[in-house]
Amino acid sequence: MENLEELKVKWIEASATASTIAALEEVRVGALGKKGEISALMKGLGGLAPDERREAGARLNEIKDSVAAAIETRKAALSEAAIEAQLAAERIDVTLPVRPEAEGRLHPISQTMDEIVLIFGEMGFQVAEGPDIEDDFHNFTALNIPPNHPARQMHDTFYLAGATGRPANPSSPGEEDGARLLRTHTSPVQIRTMQASKPPLRIIAPGRTYRCDSDMTHTPMFHQVEGLVVDETTHMGHLKGCLIEFCRAFFGIADLPVRFRPSFFPFTEPSAEVDIGCSRKGGELKIGAGDDWLEILGCGMVHPKVLEMCGIDSARYQGFAFGMGIERIAMLKYGIPDLRTFFEADLRWLRHYGFLPLDMPNLVRGAMR
Ligand code: PHE
Repeated sequence: MENLEELKVKWIEASATASTIAALEEVRVGALGKKGEISALMKGLGGLAPDERREAGARLNEIKDSVAAAIETRKAALSEAAIEAQLAAERIDVTLPVRPEAEGRLHPISQTMDEIVLIFGEMGFQVAEGPDIEDDFHNFTALNIPPNHPARQMHDTFYLAGATGRPANPSSPGEEDGARLLRTHTSPVQIRTMQASKPPLRIIAPGRTYRCDSDMTHTPMFHQVEGLVVDETTHMGHLKGCLIEFCRAFFGIADLPVRFRPSFFPFTEPSAEVDIGCSRKGGELKIGAGDDWLEILGCGMVHPKVLEMCGIDSARYQGFAFGMGIERIAMLKYGIPDLRTFFEADLRWLRHYGFLPLDMPNLVRGAMR
């Protein structure tokens, strides 16, 4: 019996001093496991006389329960200590001072582009890109603007030295094969997209454009966004629905009046210019219902010749396209009065009109700002 008391003390002590869960498990196996010391003694009870067996059995059971309880107690203590250690390791010092507010600002052009991409993205458009340095074919010829077409003059094109190294001849632009130029609009991205992929197509192409012009309302570099949809059943109704929806979402005015006015572009037929409603009472421009109109974009059904020049069967496919100036709609939405300030890199201007970089482009905030 004395032996049994020693046995009990030994295992309870071993439990209480096990320093890890794994060590404690070893103690449990050593005492109470299948081949454990206490289990073995219990198995040996069968060889005893009935009286002895009853007494020793009761004693061993009591020891087994005490050791099991000691193991459980130690286990709880070790688990708690592990959690405490983890909490201490993962502690965050909430008294640390916050980081100063980000200094930089997103340029209103970037913000406006993000908003445009967001709206058309939700309508299922993908963003496409093309080079700033274009060739004559993609910027003009494929858009149904052949050499000597008067539209070439209207575009005030910047020509680069031709592929041959000879300067292009500005008096008859495009005459030299391989002439390089800075794209005058984003429409060449339409051409590149149609050449590279098969309909159905639904893309927008935001990017830089260049024209040799500089005054209050023109800068030599500015931004446009082009849109193109080509499918078998695309019609003018789709164009109108899509652009009305865009104007209302962009300006955040659900009942914004939108008007389509007949116009001309060589690459679309029919063509239209889109006006939005506004009022100009007391010299203050306000977008929304009013008795005046503001032109904001050009659009039309892609000219069959343009489709054919890109290898698309115009008897089977139709498309619509649109293009707009990003500075112009940014100025209207955010009340920026002078186009030239966009490119002066004046930090005070950027702090005033810029957007916090960590803010996601968001139409609601954009509209309320
Ligand atoms: N590319 C035209 C421009 O720069 C805009 C436009 C694009 C018009 C697509 C119609 C269709 O003026």
